[in-house]
Amino acid sequence: MSNRHEEALAKSLNDPEGFWGEIAEDIIWTKKWDKVLDDSNAPIYRWFTGAECNTCYNALDRHVEEGRADQAALIYDSPITGGTQATYTYRELRDRVAKFAGALRANGVEKGDRVLVYMPMVPEAAIAMLACARLGAVHSVVFGGFASNELAVRIDDASPKAIVTASCGIEPGRVIAYKPLLDGAIDLAKHKPASCLVLQREQVTADLIEGRDVDWMEAENAAEPAECVTVAATDPLYILYTSGTTGQPKGVIRDNGGHMVALKWSMKTVYNMEPGDVFWAASDVGWVVGHSYIVYAPLLNGNTTIMFEGKPVGTPDPGTFWRVIQEHNVKALFTAPTAFRAIKQQDPNAEYLDKYDISCLDTLFLAGERTDPDTLDWAETKLKVPVIDHWWQTETGWAIAANCMGLHQYTVKPGSPTCAVPGWNIQVLDAECNEVERGEIGTIAIKLPLPPGTLPNLWNAEQRYRDSYLAEFPGYYTTSDAGMMDEDGYVYVMARTDDIINVAGHRLSTGGMEEVLAHHPDVAECAVIGVADEMKGQVPLGFLVLNAGVDREEGEIVKEVVKMVREKIGPVAAFKLATTVKRLPKTRSGKVLRGTMQKIADCEEHKVPATIDDPAILDEIDDALQGLGFSKARS
Ligand code: COA
Ligand code: AMP
Repeated sequence: MSNRHEEALAKSLNDPEGFWGEIAEDIIWTKKWDKVLDDSNAPIYRWFTGAECNTCYNALDRHVEEGRADQAALIYDSPITGGTQATYTYRELRDRVAKFAGALRANGVEKGDRVLVYMPMVPEAAIAMLACARLGAVHSVVFGGFASNELAVRIDDASPKAIVTASCGIEPGRVIAYKPLLDGAIDLAKHKPASCLVLQREQVTADLIEGRDVDWMEAENAAEPAECVTVAATDPLYILYTSGTTGQPKGVIRDNGGHMVALKWSMKTVYNMEPGDVFWAASDVGWVVGHSYIVYAPLLNGNTTIMFEGKPVGTPDPGTFWRVIQEHNVKALFTAPTAFRAIKQQDPNAEYLDKYDISCLDTLFLAGERTDPDTLDWAETKLKVPVIDHWWQTETGWAIAANCMGLHQYTVKPGSPTCAVPGWNIQVLDAECNEVERGEIGTIAIKLPLPPGTLPNLWNAEQRYRDSYLAEFPGYYTTSDAGMMDEDGYVYVMARTDDIINVAGHRLSTGGMEEVLAHHPDVAECAVIGVADEMKGQVPLGFLVLNAGVDREEGEIVKEVVKMVREKIGPVAAFKLATTVKRLPKTRSGKVLRGTMQKIADCEEHKVPATIDDPAILDEIDDALQGLGFSKARS
């Protein structure tokens, strides 16, 4: 017997225009669309062509006008600063956003201009994003854990008119002055922004450069509030850079119209949230989860969103999450499994949970990496609520596979994010683009068109978009995730098929790290792989082949490359392990066998590839790994 999930999935695939056209009635449009789905340039599809709208209007103003003016829109909770809290009603948030949009406008920002946002987890981060949306400007948020060089690459690619930042971010045990990092990035970049708006925080005061830097609050206070500027549904709302297989990140574009339609709908269907409910995504605005589920989706749906500046443990203890849930009446929490592994590690019996009443919590949603069965079991047992693993990517912007709590609650199968969400035609393909049998492993691909809210293109890189996502399987988007589908349609996501690794729910490119290591003067060749880590899921590990004649202490060189990655990519890369080896294992055609190295490190079964140049090298790799506590030595 079919259920609401199956019915919606079938309708979305058989009649996408009817399905999404009906859902789109929930958005306030300045002008309705000419076409729901425009396939005139397939395989590049566009949703709601001809329509006009404003995302900020739908996220804030409409709620003020429709009776939610005094409801909390955003609650800021900052245990890392010792307990700062603030609540913004929809009216207050709209007013601050309108004023800050006016400040951006006074600094030359207009519709279509890019604004780079480099901010910690403070309300002003959301205010900056929404102010851009209000003006029809395109924001590009860069995660605070990236170093100047990464910031510079993004500045050059997005060529922002303005940059908004804060004087500092706060990490456990240290305050990170952002302004020197930003100044360094602007020095490195070829493109120079006309202005930088700097939020001064009390922990650090940033020096402002005359003629370029502006004090945020002075500018906001002096500004005329800006109205919502109408944009095309297909105009870009934001660019979010994510790791590709090289050091050059991919600028994922999100449009205005389709994004609003899909995200608002997902709040009810995937997360079962009614307007007025409190939703908490414990992530960071620098990641896609932060864009979609800290800022846009909850506000589009009239929810209260929580902006949490802290960590699951150590700020001050592993009970922080439970406190936030209790104090703010959180109905659904969304975070990465690594956060739960961190809590479990410090408080295995969940004793901190006894201090709080979390009966308001209906559901825990996990994503960003596979939820391992142990973490799932621990969370279910301790929290006594459904724990929902769901699978998505920066590119997709919202869930591809999930147990949609607002449609039908399927039985959870540990290790699976359940079934295709309505809108997604998931197929598992072999190398020849044929669907494999149920239960067999292949590449997980989505039959085009992708639903609304997904990436329509890459910023300034259409050919890369076609090559990366559309070329491998004509008529499909490749997710670059390998996995399978079982007889009941449950999807299992196993591993990336490219050189992306997942460290504490953060997506990182091993290719990008190799590019940094290769710059060390003593390094002739290198390879970086992701190895299993109990808390972070994976951590990067580097193999270095030194130049002939280099006769220095290995420890010194390792220290230097670790420092280089931290300085070039940033602390978020969590690159702390490296070892020297005489050679790298390669195929006869010269391809480094990273997959085999990773399997040896993780004690997984592996075959010696028939194409290997010299099988004896694998023993050397094994020895080096054992020296680091991996491979056989660990089992
Ligand atoms: N600004 C500057 N530095 C940052 C940063 C930021 N915004 N975020 C992280 N870093 C630094 C950390 O301080 C750490 O530095 P260190 O090497 O000096 O210790 C490094 O980057 C790695 O950070 P992280 O991977 O977050 O590890 P952690 O040990 O600090 O914390 C967890 C581990 C599991 C507690 C943490 O990763 C976490 O809370 N994850 C939640 C999941 C999440 O947010 N996922 C995003 C997608 S949903
Ligand atoms: P990001 O773009 O940072 O969201 O990372 C996307 C990648 O994270 C996916 O391609 C997967 O490899 C992995 N991922 C995210 N969520 C899940 C999940 N629920 N199960 C398995 N892998 C996941």
